Amino acid sequence: MTYRTEHCGDFNESQIGTDAIASGWTARRRDHGGLVFIDLRDRSGMVQLVIDPEHAPAALDVAQAIRVESVIRATGKIVARAPETVNTNLSTGAIEILVDTLEELAPSDPLPFQLDDEGVDEALRIRHRALDLRRDVMRETQYVRTMTTRLIRRYLEDRGFWELETPILTKSTPEGARDFVVPARLEPGSVYALPQSPQLFKQLFMMGGYERYYQIARCFRDEAQRADRQLEFTQLDLEMSFVTRDEILELTEGLYCALWQEILGIELPRPFLRITHAEAMLRFGSDKPDLRYGLEISDVSELVANSGFSVFKGAVEKGGAVRALACPGAAALSRRELDELAEFAKEWGGQGLAYLLLDPSGEVRSPIAKFLSEEELAGIIAATGAQPGDAVFLAADSAAVVVRVLGALRPHLAARYELADPKAWSMLFVVDFPLFGYDENEGRWVAEHHMFTAPRAEDEDRIESDPGSVLSEAYDFVVNGSEIASGSLRINRPDLQERVFRTVGFSDEEAEDRFGFLLRALRFGAPPHGGIAPGIDRTVMLLVGTESIRDVIAFPKIAGGFDPLTDAPSPATAEQWRDLGLVVPPPKKQDA
Ligand code: AMO
Ligand code: AMP
Repeated sequence: MTYRTEHCGDFNESQIGTDAIASGWTARRRDHGGLVFIDLRDRSGMVQLVIDPEHAPAALDVAQAIRVESVIRATGKIVARAPETVNTNLSTGAIEILVDTLEELAPSDPLPFQLDDEGVDEALRIRHRALDLRRDVMRETQYVRTMTTRLIRRYLEDRGFWELETPILTKSTPEGARDFVVPARLEPGSVYALPQSPQLFKQLFMMGGYERYYQIARCFRDEAQRADRQLEFTQLDLEMSFVTRDEILELTEGLYCALWQEILGIELPRPFLRITHAEAMLRFGSDKPDLRYGLEISDVSELVANSGFSVFKGAVEKGGAVRALACPGAAALSRRELDELAEFAKEWGGQGLAYLLLDPSGEVRSPIAKFLSEEELAGIIAATGAQPGDAVFLAADSAAVVVRVLGALRPHLAARYELADPKAWSMLFVVDFPLFGYDENEGRWVAEHHMFTAPRAEDEDRIESDPGSVLSEAYDFVVNGSEIASGSLRINRPDLQERVFRTVGFSDEEAEDRFGFLLRALRFGAPPHGGIAPGIDRTVMLLVGTESIRDVIAFPKIAGGFDPLTDAPSPATAEQWRDLGLVVPPPKKQDA
């Protein structure tokens, strides 16, 4: 038996008059008083079957009994549709199959939801993912995913990269999240960690002399899930030896240009902008600025250092900052909306949000105007470039708080006023990240990227004396305000690696215990090396234009790390606990 002479979407007018066999899913069935029409769907598209009772009475019986989404096979002849019934929205819209025989290969139960219903609960969709995956948008998304990885492989293979594998059962490869651990049955009390990334293994490949490595790598991080974050996700992980930062950035730029060109038909302007971390924080209040809109932040600290508004004067006196941004059209905001923005600033740790409203006439309205001199007002307006009709928002506090508040306000206002051009792409590299950040909770320095990132050579001698001032060879690739990739040049000398371990608070014994395998390898000659890891899920999110990472992952987890499809995680049996040498914890309250 043959299931098909052609995929559903590939039947065409040149075949009119020929025999056809097609198999697929019953997408729709319409009964037109005698004539029955079935839309038959497979991965390639749709073709219309016509069942004429005069011509094929047995097929009519089958057609009338069939439920939507059942799998069927039809034989018949390709015929032209009557001109008035041609469907120009369908690749096969000029023809149909006049059915001779119709056979049900596998029936479908009544559906838990209709495939064209947009409002179905996500957990229900995931529970019945095999059905959900049949929706056009899901199929198109997964196709973009396969195009993306196919193109990545071709691009990197053409440039001498080897696709190599690294272990899943391993020791901690810290990237700043909690590890998932797997209890080791053969070594009771011990665990393997699942990799947060293949970071250390790719470095070992470089120390092994393999020059160019890549992997489409699954990573595991036990952290809170968000719209762009899953417990397990996929990176394009790559590493190169004897390489400079700019060579890695150019390779990444070329790859994204190729993806956008081939998948979206868009030619991205090159080169991508590069901006230092310090400049990004100052001008946009963020290390992942979205440059599809302006709302640039200006520092007006000096202008208002002696202001009659004590909040401003006080902030500058305490070594803080006063910064401002102008929002087009926002002079028309109501009192209530302005109060909400002040509340928003407080949620981000600010004390409030001062504002100047520039009426279309040029008049300035503001509760703080009376405290500001003409010169201060004019200076703020000039610094922010505010125009009549705009509002200027000002935050005064420590520089860190001001950056946080205005950095949050910028995308908030851009969303409120729809300032981002939906067709534009803001693609840039942020470079010169600090090597360390101070963690107030833990009371110690922590690596900003990860502990294996190299400091800039000119900053190396300040690692001990002034860690906060050391800049690194780390970089991020940022698209439309999202971090899409991170990477760095790595440390390739054991002494330098040990100094970084000490700075983040490891004793030499702890460092040896946790990362002895890396230090051992570094002692036998490590080439200068570096790499980057773009998130595949986030890249596909951009390519298909969705805000939810769960839309691009075929089998995602929902809140709480729960998988409604398989009901994972599921309780271990008493026997499993015993085998692992673990104590059975009491059941959770809800189960008891
Ligand atoms: P980093 O931790 O920044 O770097 O991760 C790199 C990229 O992976 C994606 N990503 C995620 N995607 C979905 N869900 C998550 N929970 C998640 N976490 C990260 C992002 C991010 O930019 N080893 C280094 C890379 C290197 O230095 O080469 C690393 O993993 O797109
Ligand atoms: P107040 O003096 O508290 O009545 O505040 C006057 C205005 O200044 C209000 O609009 C407050 O939201 C704003 N404001 C208060 N503290 C700050 C601050 N640290 N930075 C910016 N604006 C502030």
